[in-house]
Amino acid sequence: MLNIKKTKLHLATAVIIGGLMGASSMSFAQTLKLSHNGDTKSPVHKALKFFADEVKEKTDGDLKVRVYPNGQLGTQRESLELLQSGALDMAKSNASELESFDPGYGAFNIPYIFRDREHFYRALESEDIGQKILRSSEKYGFVGVAYFDAGSRNFYTTKPVRTPADLKGMKIRVQPSPSAIKMMELMGASPTPLPFGELYTALQQRVVDGAENNIGAVTTYRHGEVAKYYTEDEHAMIPDVLVISASTWEGLSDDNKAAVIAAGKDATAFMKTLWAEYTVEELKKAEKMGVEVLQADKDAFIKAVAPMHEAAAENPAISSYVKAIKALDK
Ligand code: GCU
Repeated sequence: MLNIKKTKLHLATAVIIGGLMGASSMSFAQTLKLSHNGDTKSPVHKALKFFADEVKEKTDGDLKVRVYPNGQLGTQRESLELLQSGALDMAKSNASELESFDPGYGAFNIPYIFRDREHFYRALESEDIGQKILRSSEKYGFVGVAYFDAGSRNFYTTKPVRTPADLKGMKIRVQPSPSAIKMMELMGASPTPLPFGELYTALQQRVVDGAENNIGAVTTYRHGEVAKYYTEDEHAMIPDVLVISASTWEGLSDDNKAAVIAAGKDATAFMKTLWAEYTVEELKKAEKMGVEVLQADKDAFIKAVAPMHEAAAENPAISSYVKAIKALDK
Protein backbone atom coordinates (compact mmCIF):
# COMPACT_ATOMS: atom_id res chain seq x y z
CA MET A 1 0.00 0.00 0.00
CA LEU A 2 2.69 2.37 1.12
CA ASN A 3 4.81 1.46 -1.87
CA ILE A 4 2.03 2.21 -4.26
CA LYS A 5 1.55 5.60 -2.65
CA LYS A 6 5.28 6.29 -2.92
CA THR A 7 5.31 5.29 -6.56
CA LYS A 8 2.37 7.60 -7.25
CA LEU A 9 4.20 10.40 -5.49
CA HIS A 10 7.36 9.82 -7.53
CA LEU A 11 5.34 9.76 -10.70
CA ALA A 12 3.58 13.01 -9.81
CA THR A 13 6.92 14.67 -8.98
CA ALA A 14 8.41 13.43 -12.22
CA VAL A 15 5.47 14.81 -14.19
CA ILE A 16 5.78 18.21 -12.50
CA ILE A 17 9.57 18.38 -12.96
CA GLY A 18 9.29 17.13 -16.54
CA GLY A 19 6.62 19.73 -17.25
CA LEU A 20 8.76 22.49 -15.82
CA MET A 21 11.80 21.38 -17.79
CA GLY A 22 9.76 21.19 -20.95
CA ALA A 23 8.38 24.67 -20.39
CA SER A 24 11.75 26.15 -19.56
CA SER A 25 13.55 24.60 -22.52
CA MET A 26 10.72 25.82 -24.78
CA SER A 27 11.05 29.36 -23.58
CA PHE A 28 14.86 29.35 -23.94
CA ALA A 29 15.41 28.14 -27.47
CA GLN A 30 13.32 28.35 -30.59
CA THR A 31 14.00 26.70 -33.94
CA LEU A 32 12.52 28.29 -37.04
CA LYS A 33 11.76 26.17 -40.09
CA LEU A 34 12.95 27.73 -43.36
CA SER A 35 11.80 26.34 -46.71
CA HIS A 36 13.34 26.90 -50.14
CA ASN A 37 13.15 25.21 -53.53
CA GLY A 38 16.89 25.20 -54.32
CA ASP A 39 19.42 22.41 -54.61
CA THR A 40 21.90 21.91 -51.74
CA LYS A 41 24.70 22.74 -54.24
CA SER A 42 23.13 26.09 -55.14
CA PRO A 43 24.55 29.39 -53.88
CA VAL A 44 21.20 30.25 -52.32
CA HIS A 45 21.34 27.15 -50.12
CA LYS A 46 24.84 28.17 -49.00
CA ALA A 47 23.64 31.72 -48.28
CA LEU A 48 20.71 30.40 -46.25
CA LYS A 49 22.97 28.08 -44.23
CA PHE A 50 25.22 31.09 -43.64
CA PHE A 51 22.15 33.05 -42.48
CA ALA A 52 21.19 30.22 -40.08
CA ASP A 53 24.71 30.14 -38.59
CA GLU A 54 24.69 33.91 -38.16
CA VAL A 55 21.31 33.87 -36.39
CA LYS A 56 22.53 31.19 -33.98
CA GLU A 57 25.73 33.10 -33.27
CA LYS A 58 24.10 36.50 -32.85
CA THR A 59 21.47 35.15 -30.43
CA ASP A 60 23.89 32.86 -28.52
CA GLY A 61 21.81 29.89 -29.59
CA ASP A 62 18.53 31.36 -28.35
CA LEU A 63 17.17 31.31 -31.89
CA LYS A 64 18.03 28.68 -34.48
CA VAL A 65 17.03 28.21 -38.10
CA ARG A 66 16.69 24.81 -39.79
CA VAL A 67 16.92 24.96 -43.58
CA TYR A 68 14.75 22.59 -45.66
CA PRO A 69 15.96 22.59 -49.33
CA ASN A 70 14.58 21.11 -52.58
CA GLY A 71 10.99 22.19 -52.02
CA GLN A 72 10.57 19.39 -49.41
CA LEU A 73 8.07 21.61 -47.60
CA GLY A 74 6.31 22.71 -50.79
CA THR A 75 6.68 24.92 -53.84
CA GLN A 76 7.46 28.61 -53.37
CA ARG A 77 3.76 29.39 -53.60
CA GLU A 78 2.77 26.69 -51.11
CA SER A 79 5.47 27.87 -48.71
CA LEU A 80 4.10 31.40 -48.81
CA GLU A 81 0.60 30.13 -48.08
CA LEU A 82 1.92 28.12 -45.11
CA LEU A 83 3.73 31.24 -43.93
CA GLN A 84 0.57 33.31 -44.07
CA SER A 85 -1.32 30.78 -41.99
CA GLY A 86 1.54 30.57 -39.49
CA ALA A 87 2.24 26.87 -40.25
CA LEU A 88 5.78 27.67 -41.47
CA ASP A 89 8.24 30.25 -40.10
CA MET A 90 10.43 31.30 -43.01
CA ALA A 91 10.75 30.85 -46.76
CA LYS A 92 13.03 31.96 -49.55
CA SER A 93 11.00 33.01 -52.56
CA ASN A 94 11.58 35.67 -55.19
CA ALA A 95 10.02 38.94 -56.29
CA SER A 96 8.24 37.23 -59.16
CA GLU A 97 6.26 34.83 -56.97
CA LEU A 98 5.83 37.41 -54.20
CA GLU A 99 4.09 39.81 -56.56
CA SER A 100 0.90 37.70 -56.16
CA PHE A 101 1.09 38.12 -52.37
CA ASP A 102 2.25 41.76 -52.19
CA PRO A 103 1.91 43.79 -55.43
CA GLY A 104 4.82 46.08 -54.41
CA TYR A 105 7.29 43.34 -55.43
CA GLY A 106 6.05 43.76 -58.99
CA ALA A 107 8.33 46.81 -59.35
CA PHE A 108 11.34 44.45 -59.63
CA ASN A 109 9.66 42.39 -62.32
CA ILE A 110 9.50 45.02 -65.04
CA PRO A 111 11.88 43.78 -67.73
CA TYR A 112 14.97 45.93 -68.30
CA ILE A 113 14.22 48.16 -65.31
CA PHE A 114 17.81 47.82 -64.10
CA ARG A 115 20.74 49.05 -66.16
CA ASP A 116 23.23 46.74 -64.45
CA ARG A 117 24.09 44.92 -61.23
CA GLU A 118 25.17 48.12 -59.50
CA HIS A 119 21.85 49.81 -60.24
CA PHE A 120 20.06 46.68 -59.00
CA TYR A 121 21.95 46.72 -55.67
CA ARG A 122 21.33 50.44 -55.18
CA ALA A 123 17.58 49.84 -55.56
CA LEU A 124 17.61 46.91 -53.11
CA GLU A 125 19.54 48.90 -50.52
CA SER A 126 17.50 52.09 -50.90
CA GLU A 127 15.33 52.87 -47.85
CA ASP A 128 12.59 54.18 -50.16
CA ILE A 129 12.59 51.20 -52.51
CA GLY A 130 13.98 47.78 -51.55
CA GLN A 131 13.93 48.26 -47.80
CA LYS A 132 10.45 49.81 -47.84
CA ILE A 133 9.09 46.90 -49.88
CA LEU A 134 10.55 44.40 -47.36
CA ARG A 135 8.78 46.18 -44.51
CA SER A 136 5.44 46.72 -46.18
CA SER A 137 3.97 43.21 -46.35
CA GLU A 138 3.07 42.58 -42.69
CA LYS A 139 -0.58 43.15 -43.54
CA TYR A 140 -0.33 40.25 -46.00
CA GLY A 141 0.97 37.90 -43.30
CA PHE A 142 4.73 38.02 -43.86
CA VAL A 143 7.71 40.32 -43.38
CA GLY A 144 10.69 40.66 -45.74
CA VAL A 145 14.07 39.92 -44.16
CA ALA A 146 16.68 40.09 -46.94
CA TYR A 147 17.37 40.00 -50.67
CA PHE A 148 19.68 37.61 -52.49
CA ASP A 149 21.25 38.07 -55.87
CA ALA A 150 19.75 35.72 -58.44
CA GLY A 151 21.58 37.12 -61.45
CA SER A 152 20.02 38.17 -64.70
CA ARG A 153 17.41 36.07 -66.44
CA ASN A 154 17.99 34.82 -69.97
CA PHE A 155 16.28 32.42 -72.36
CA TYR A 156 17.38 28.82 -72.66
CA THR A 157 15.64 26.88 -75.36
CA THR A 158 15.62 23.83 -77.59
CA LYS A 159 15.84 26.05 -80.73
CA PRO A 160 18.11 29.09 -81.15
CA VAL A 161 16.56 32.41 -80.11
CA ARG A 162 18.18 35.75 -80.96
CA THR A 163 15.18 38.05 -81.47
CA PRO A 164 11.58 38.18 -80.20
CA ALA A 165 10.51 36.98 -83.66
CA ASP A 166 12.33 33.67 -83.00
CA LEU A 167 10.05 33.06 -80.01
CA LYS A 168 6.91 32.93 -82.13
CA GLY A 169 5.05 29.67 -81.61
CA MET A 170 7.34 28.56 -78.77
CA LYS A 171 5.99 27.50 -75.39
CA ILE A 172 8.17 29.07 -72.74
CA ARG A 173 7.88 28.21 -69.05
CA VAL A 174 7.42 31.25 -66.83
CA GLN A 175 7.09 31.67 -63.09
CA PRO A 176 3.52 31.77 -61.79
CA SER A 177 3.41 35.58 -61.82
CA PRO A 178 1.28 38.09 -63.76
CA SER A 179 4.36 40.10 -64.83
CA ALA A 180 6.18 37.04 -66.14
CA ILE A 181 3.14 36.03 -68.19
CA LYS A 182 2.69 39.55 -69.59
CA MET A 183 6.38 39.83 -70.49
CA MET A 184 6.35 36.56 -72.40
CA GLU A 185 3.19 37.51 -74.33
CA LEU A 186 4.77 40.83 -75.35
CA MET A 187 7.93 39.04 -76.46
CA GLY A 188 5.80 36.84 -78.71
CA ALA A 189 6.01 33.41 -77.04
CA SER A 190 3.27 31.33 -75.37
CA PRO A 191 3.80 31.57 -71.60
CA THR A 192 3.40 28.34 -69.60
CA PRO A 193 3.40 28.99 -65.83
CA LEU A 194 4.91 26.10 -63.86
CA PRO A 195 6.59 25.67 -60.46
CA PHE A 196 10.38 25.45 -60.80
CA GLY A 197 10.49 21.87 -59.48
CA GLU A 198 8.38 20.62 -62.40
CA LEU A 199 10.46 22.25 -65.09
CA TYR A 200 13.12 19.62 -65.81
CA THR A 201 10.46 17.02 -66.63
CA ALA A 202 8.43 19.55 -68.63
CA LEU A 203 11.49 20.32 -70.77
CA GLN A 204 12.39 16.67 -71.16
CA GLN A 205 8.86 15.74 -72.23
CA ARG A 206 8.72 18.77 -74.55
CA VAL A 207 5.72 20.20 -72.69
CA VAL A 208 7.68 23.44 -73.08
CA ASP A 209 10.29 24.49 -75.65
CA GLY A 210 12.34 26.47 -73.19
CA ALA A 211 12.42 28.66 -70.14
CA GLU A 212 14.24 31.69 -68.81
CA ASN A 213 16.42 32.00 -65.76
CA ASN A 214 19.96 32.57 -64.55
CA ILE A 215 22.74 30.27 -65.76
CA GLY A 216 22.44 28.07 -62.67
CA ALA A 217 19.19 26.60 -64.01
CA VAL A 218 21.14 25.27 -67.00
CA THR A 219 23.97 23.74 -64.94
CA THR A 220 23.09 23.14 -61.27
CA TYR A 221 19.55 22.04 -62.22
CA ARG A 222 20.77 20.34 -65.44
CA HIS A 223 18.18 21.97 -67.72
CA GLY A 224 21.04 22.37 -70.21
CA GLU A 225 20.88 18.61 -70.79
CA VAL A 226 17.72 19.31 -72.78
CA ALA A 227 17.83 23.02 -73.75
CA LYS A 228 21.01 23.54 -75.77
CA TYR A 229 20.79 27.30 -76.47
CA TYR A 230 21.30 30.05 -73.91
CA THR A 231 20.46 33.56 -75.16
CA GLU A 232 22.07 36.39 -73.23
CA ASP A 233 19.27 38.94 -73.56
CA GLU A 234 19.34 39.73 -69.80
CA HIS A 235 15.66 40.69 -69.71
CA ALA A 236 15.27 40.78 -65.94
CA MET A 237 17.12 40.86 -62.63
CA ILE A 238 14.66 39.44 -60.14
CA PRO A 239 15.91 39.25 -56.56
CA ASP A 240 15.39 36.23 -54.35
CA VAL A 241 13.73 37.26 -51.11
CA LEU A 242 13.87 35.75 -47.63
CA VAL A 243 10.62 36.25 -45.72
CA ILE A 244 9.28 35.38 -42.27
CA SER A 245 5.72 34.68 -41.18
CA ALA A 246 4.14 37.74 -39.52
CA SER A 247 2.96 35.60 -36.58
CA THR A 248 6.48 34.18 -36.01
CA TRP A 249 7.90 37.70 -36.33
CA GLU A 250 5.50 39.11 -33.73
CA GLY A 251 6.52 36.37 -31.30
CA LEU A 252 10.25 37.21 -31.45
CA SER A 253 11.93 39.39 -28.83
CA ASP A 254 13.28 42.73 -30.03
CA ASP A 255 16.84 41.40 -29.70
CA ASN A 256 16.04 38.37 -31.81
CA LYS A 257 14.29 40.51 -34.43
CA ALA A 258 17.41 42.68 -34.66
CA ALA A 259 19.61 39.56 -34.95
CA VAL A 260 17.47 38.19 -37.80
CA ILE A 261 17.69 41.46 -39.74
CA ALA A 262 21.46 41.78 -39.14
CA ALA A 263 22.02 38.15 -40.18
CA GLY A 264 19.96 38.85 -43.31
CA LYS A 265 22.16 41.81 -44.26
CA ASP A 266 25.31 39.72 -43.75
CA ALA A 267 23.84 36.92 -45.85
CA THR A 268 23.00 39.36 -48.68
CA ALA A 269 26.65 40.50 -48.72
CA PHE A 270 27.91 36.88 -48.55
CA MET A 271 25.72 35.99 -51.54
CA LYS A 272 26.88 39.03 -53.55
CA THR A 273 30.44 37.66 -53.71
CA LEU A 274 29.38 34.05 -54.05
CA TRP A 275 27.04 34.83 -56.93
CA ALA A 276 29.67 36.69 -58.95
CA GLU A 277 32.05 33.70 -58.74
CA TYR A 278 29.27 31.19 -59.42
CA THR A 279 28.12 32.89 -62.63
CA VAL A 280 31.61 32.81 -64.17
CA GLU A 281 32.08 29.14 -63.31
CA GLU A 282 28.62 28.06 -64.45
CA LEU A 283 28.97 29.70 -67.86
CA LYS A 284 32.09 27.59 -68.44
CA LYS A 285 30.23 24.48 -67.24
CA ALA A 286 27.29 25.22 -69.55
CA GLU A 287 29.63 25.36 -72.54
CA LYS A 288 31.20 22.05 -71.48
CA MET A 289 27.67 20.57 -71.39
CA GLY A 290 27.37 21.53 -75.05
CA VAL A 291 25.14 24.54 -74.48
CA GLU A 292 25.69 27.25 -77.08
CA VAL A 293 25.70 30.81 -75.73
CA LEU A 294 24.00 33.19 -78.18
CA GLN A 295 24.13 36.98 -78.42
CA ALA A 296 20.67 38.55 -78.51
CA ASP A 297 19.27 41.52 -80.37
CA LYS A 298 18.73 43.22 -77.03
CA ASP A 299 17.21 46.39 -78.49
CA ALA A 300 14.43 44.35 -80.08
CA PHE A 301 13.63 42.72 -76.72
CA ILE A 302 13.67 46.10 -74.95
CA LYS A 303 11.28 47.50 -77.55
CA ALA A 304 8.91 44.54 -77.23
CA VAL A 305 8.36 45.10 -73.50
CA ALA A 306 8.02 48.91 -73.60
CA PRO A 307 4.25 48.67 -72.88
CA MET A 308 5.08 47.22 -69.45
CA HIS A 309 7.00 50.39 -68.56
CA GLU A 310 4.05 52.51 -69.67
CA ALA A 311 1.59 50.41 -67.65
CA ALA A 312 3.86 50.47 -64.56
CA ALA A 313 3.84 54.27 -64.55
CA GLU A 314 0.03 54.12 -64.24
CA ASN A 315 -0.14 51.32 -61.67
CA PRO A 316 -0.60 52.79 -58.15
CA ALA A 317 0.84 49.66 -56.47
CA ILE A 318 4.26 50.12 -58.08
CA SER A 319 4.44 53.50 -59.88
CA SER A 320 6.33 55.30 -57.09
CA TYR A 321 8.86 52.46 -56.74
CA VAL A 322 9.37 52.28 -60.50
CA LYS A 323 9.90 56.04 -60.68
CA ALA A 324 12.41 55.90 -57.82
CA ILE A 325 14.29 52.97 -59.41
CA LYS A 326 14.57 54.85 -62.69
CA ALA A 327 15.67 58.05 -60.90
CA LEU A 328 18.52 56.12 -59.24
CA ASP A 329 20.02 55.50 -62.66
CA LYS A 330 20.31 59.18 -63.55
C1 GCU B 1 15.33 31.56 -59.71
C2 GCU B 1 15.00 31.80 -58.29
C3 GCU B 1 14.08 30.76 -57.70
C4 GCU B 1 12.90 30.52 -58.62
C5 GCU B 1 13.35 30.25 -60.01
C6 GCU B 1 12.16 30.07 -60.97
O1 GCU B 1 16.19 30.48 -59.85
O2 GCU B 1 16.18 31.86 -57.53
O3 GCU B 1 13.63 31.21 -56.47
O4 GCU B 1 12.14 29.44 -58.17
O5 GCU B 1 14.15 31.30 -60.46
O6 GCU B 1 12.28 30.45 -62.13
O7 GCU B 1 11.13 29.54 -60.55
